[in-house]
Amino acid sequence: MGATAIKNTNQTRESFDNDEETNRAILNSLLAVLKTRDADTYDHSKRTVKVSLLLGRECGLDLKEMRSLEFGALLHDIGKIGVPDNVLRKPGKLNDFEWAIMRRHPDFGEEILRGLSCFAEARTIVAQHHEKWDGSGYPLGLRGEEIALSARVLFVADAFDAMTSDRVYRLARSYEEAIAELDSCAGTQFDSRVVAAFHRFPREDWERLTRRI
Ligand SMILES: [Fe+2]
Repeated sequence: MGATAIKNTNQTRESFDNDEETNRAILNSLLAVLKTRDADTYDHSKRTVKVSLLLGRECGLDLKEMRSLEFGALLHDIGKIGVPDNVLRKPGKLNDFEWAIMRRHPDFGEEILRGLSCFAEARTIVAQHHEKWDGSGYPLGLRGEEIALSARVLFVADAFDAMTSDRVYRLARSYEEAIAELDSCAGTQFDSRVVAAFHRFPREDWERLTRRI
């Protein structure tokens, strides 16, 4: 390789590193906003990304997809910063009107990330993370493989962490109850392939990954 080629390669590598550094800085700023607004959602996102990455690798995502999944999992609920306090922090179950507001958070998240080309794939995951395999999810009612595989992976990870976490209006469900729920909704809410991937790891792995911060 000639000197010019080596120089160009080094420049390309340097430019990639700079881009990656910038992208990570933007990611960290967005996460700081989320943590300031809603520390519980921030903690949930930090646990969910670990579960998502293990599941994503098991489901065959490549390196680029795994990076997008990491960003998407960390930012999946960033749109909740647009949900008013009386809904976001309500110490009880939401009524229909409040649910309608809460269900807008994937759209809010997509809007926040619009224009950040480095988060293009992550934005799709954010937008689709409440879509369900049978088309009963939101906001678009996408079904099956219309939903990005990374979003289907995140949906299972998100549900598992949500079920095994305390809520203001209910205590955390046990690991066994959470697994039973994943199984009973495989093929309807969840992609069966992702639930099958979940079963290929022992309980200890999931408990370690979701240990409370
Ligand atoms: Fe969400």
